[in-house]
Amino acid sequence: MTFETSEPAAPAADQPVVPVAPPPSPSVPATGAAVGRPPTSEVPLVEVEGLVKYYPIMGGFLRRHVGDVKAVDGVSFWVNRGEVLGLVGESGCGKSTLGKTLIQLTPPTAGLAKLDGEPIFGKKGKDLKKLRRRMQIIFQDPVGSLNPRMPISDIIGEGLLAQADAENRWGDRKVRDKRVGDYLDAVGLRRDYTRRYPHEFSGGQRQRIGIARALALSPDFLICDEPVSALDVSIQSQILNLLLDLRREFDLTYLFIAHNLSVVQYISDRVGVMYLGKLVELAEVEELYRRPRHPYSVALLSAVPDANPRVRKKRLVLTGDVPSPAAPPSGCHFHTRCWLYEQLGQPEVCTTADPEFRDIGDGHLVACHWAEKVPTAVVASAVPTAEVTTDTVAMPAAGIPAAPPIDAGPPTEEATASGT
Ligand SMILES: Nc1ncnc2c1ncn2[C@@H]1O[C@H](COP(=O)(O)OP(=O)(O)O)[C@@H](O)[C@H]1O
Ligand code: SF4
Ligand SMILES: [Mg+2]
Repeated sequence: MTFETSEPAAPAADQPVVPVAPPPSPSVPATGAAVGRPPTSEVPLVEVEGLVKYYPIMGGFLRRHVGDVKAVDGVSFWVNRGEVLGLVGESGCGKSTLGKTLIQLTPPTAGLAKLDGEPIFGKKGKDLKKLRRRMQIIFQDPVGSLNPRMPISDIIGEGLLAQADAENRWGDRKVRDKRVGDYLDAVGLRRDYTRRYPHEFSGGQRQRIGIARALALSPDFLICDEPVSALDVSIQSQILNLLLDLRREFDLTYLFIAHNLSVVQYISDRVGVMYLGKLVELAEVEELYRRPRHPYSVALLSAVPDANPRVRKKRLVLTGDVPSPAAPPSGCHFHTRCWLYEQLGQPEVCTTADPEFRDIGDGHLVACHWAEKVPTAVVASAVPTAEVTTDTVAMPAAGIPAAPPIDAGPPTEEATASGT
C-alpha cells in the first residue's frame, strides 16, 4: 500500500468536513481463511477466525446472568510460521484474554482457531495434551508464575513429567534433569542452578526460567504476555534479544503481547492494535509505525516520545475514559474518543455500523469507515521518526498505562554470571 494518494489536508477544528459515503468494503474472504490473509499455498501456523470471549456478569439475589464483559469480541488474524506478531492496546482491551483463550486456559464463547490447519478448540484427552505441548505461554509476572516452594528442576520438570511418554522418556529423572539443564543453558543460565529456588534469582533471571520452562516442551507457538513489562528497564532489551535468538534457534513463532509500542516495534514482524475487544488495525511493523490508518493507532503513536529529542511531535489526545467492555458504544466502539469522527463532523455511520476489518492494500487491515480520510499531515506529525534500538526500546510509551512494576528481587551473584 502506498500513501501518496492525494489526501485532504487536516481540516481546522472549526471547519467540519462534510461527510461523504464511506468507501465500499472489499468482499469478505472465503470461509476458513483469517480475514485479509493473502492467498498463498503456505498454511499459517496459527489462524483465528471470529474469536469471541465473554465473561458473564451475574447479578441480583438469584445470581442471574445480567450481562457480559465482552473481553474479546470477534477477532480474526493469522500468524505465519517463524514470525513475531505483536499485539498492542490499552490495559483492559482484551490482550491477555485473547492469549489465554487461544491456549485454552479459558474456553472461547465463539469462534475458530487452528494450529497448523488443525482446529484448536474442543480437543480432549490425548489430543488436548499434544496440543498443549505445541502451544506455550510466558507470563508478565516472573515472580508469581514460579512456585516459590519448588526448586528450578521441579518447576521446569513439572511440565515435562505431565507430557512424559515412552518415546521421550521424560518420566525418567535423569533424562528430565538433563533436559532442564539444557534449557537453562539455552536461556543463558548455569545448568547447576537446578537445585535453587525462585527467590534466589533476580527478576530477569526468573523470566529466563519461565522461558526455559516453556521451551523445554519444544513448542512451535509461544504466547508472550507482557514478558518484559515488569522488568527493570535495563533488563528489558536483554530478554527481548534472548527471545529473538531463541526464535531462530528453536524455529519458534510468537504472539507477543505488550502495551509498550516501542517494545512491540522492536521485536515484531507484524503488529495488531486492539481496542475494546476488537482488532482495529493490523499491518507489517514498518507500515503500521510509518503509515497508521486507524485514528486510534495514530493517537497511540503520537504519544510515544521520539528518540530524537529535536523532534517535536504533535500529540493527539484521546478524550474521555475507555468505555466499559460490558457496554461498548454502538457502531464503531472507538467513536466516543475518535478525533477523526469529530473532524469529519460526526458522521452517523460511525455510531450505527461496526466497521468491517478490511484490507486497504498489501495485507494492511483497518476497521474504520474512513481510513482513507486520515490526513497524511496528521500521520506525518504523529509517527516516530527515529529507528527503534536497544537504547530506545524501553522508553515509556506515554498514553498507554504501564503495568505496575514488580519487585525484581535483590540482585544475586548469578546476576553477574548471566548478565541479568
Ligand atoms: N476472569 C475474568 N472475569 C471477568 N472479567 C474478566 C476476567 N479476566 C479479564 N476480565 C475483563 O476482561 C477485560 C479484558 O481484560 P484483559 O484481557 O486482562 O485485558 P488486557 O490484557 O488487555 O489488559 C477487562 O475488562 C477485564 O476486567
Ligand atoms: S469508523 Fe468513525 S469513529 Fe470509528 S475510527 Fe473510523 S472515523 Fe473514528
Ligand atoms: Mg494483560
